[in-house]
Amino acid sequence: MLAISLIMLIPESLRADISPRLIVSNCRSCHSGLGTVIPSLNVLSAEQIKQALLQFKYDRRKSTVMGRIVKGLSDAEISAVAHSIQGHSQ
Ligand code: HEC
Repeated sequence: MLAISLIMLIPESLRADISPRLIVSNCRSCHSGLGTVIPSLNVLSAEQIKQALLQFKYDRRKSTVMGRIVKGLSDAEISAVAHSIQGHSQ
């Protein structure tokens, strides 16, 4: 209960900033950029990442795991995550 009420004290604008960062740390566990078969995200612009995620979500692009991952995100979260990733690589 205490934790929940403390979170409610964080202004809405800050909360919106925290959640994409948490999601991005999850993305990085696979997209480490360490030369695995999983493509690095650092070479893509925010717009390219957003378009790719939307294509995965709406089954316009084939995927093994990405479609399942992004179906849990709203379009607004996808946009926030895409911009957050680009921010981290700069
Ligand atoms: C379980 C590992 C895994 C996680 C977690 C993951 N990805 Fe992926 N990602 C992949 C794989 C594998 C592909 C290749 C497409 C496929 O087979 O799903 C991919 C493809 C992509 C692409 C297309 C890259 C390109 O060069 O075309 C983007 C963009 C992307 N992921 C973004 C993300 C974002 C953003 C997150 C976090 C919300 C994320 N991924 C989380 C494994 C992962």
